[in-house]
Amino acid sequence: MSTADETFTILGSIRTASVDETEVVAAKLARVLRMGDRVALAGDLGGGKTAFVRGVVRGLGSPHVRDVASPTFALHHRYPDGRLLVDHCDLYRLTPPADLAAEGLDLVVRDPAGVLFVEWAERAAEGFRDFDLRIDFIYAGEDARLLRFSARPAVADRFRGALS
Ligand SMILES: Nc1ncnc2c1ncn2[C@@H]1O[C@H](COP(=O)(O)OP(=O)(O)OP(=O)(O)O)[C@@H](O)[C@H]1O
Ligand SMILES: [Mg+2]
Repeated sequence: MSTADETFTILGSIRTASVDETEVVAAKLARVLRMGDRVALAGDLGGGKTAFVRGVVRGLGSPHVRDVASPTFALHHRYPDGRLLVDHCDLYRLTPPADLAAEGLDLVVRDPAGVLFVEWAERAAEGFRDFDLRIDFIYAGEDARLLRFSARPAVADRFRGALS
């Protein structure tokens, strides 16, 4: 879902103390995801972005949980057969500002077949313009991570509910 309004509303932060806790937060979020939602994953290397996608895929009931890995070379993975299909992109190896059309990713971003999660979304030339929800991952110690959530005003209540 896209809106003309490009500002994000801050929803708050969650501190997780293990990779499993990060996956549980992601699975909660998965419950409120709707067809067409686009989620930007930004922040630190090893911050837990891929782990978060794994939790979403699990939460949506897809059998492809163990296939979830950073699509660093393919740029795009797809996990079907859950409540919603998950498209998973990773822009890490692209030099910012990355031209998604040149990489063949623009259609995936503009017209998702389910829900879309993009790691290193901050590298896209378009920035966060195409996204409904943004999650920043901050390294806070060996097993600690801070997940900071912000969303478009139109969808903020739906996501806030999933995180409280
Ligand atoms: N609280 C935590 N949440 C998530 N991952 C954690 C946590 N504590 C430790 N980890 C570890 O940190 C690593 C996170 O890796 P992951 O691939 O999910 O990060 P990433 O943000 O996708 O990294 P990259 O930027 O390289 O794609 C994993 O090895 C995981 O076990
Ligand atoms: Mg990753």
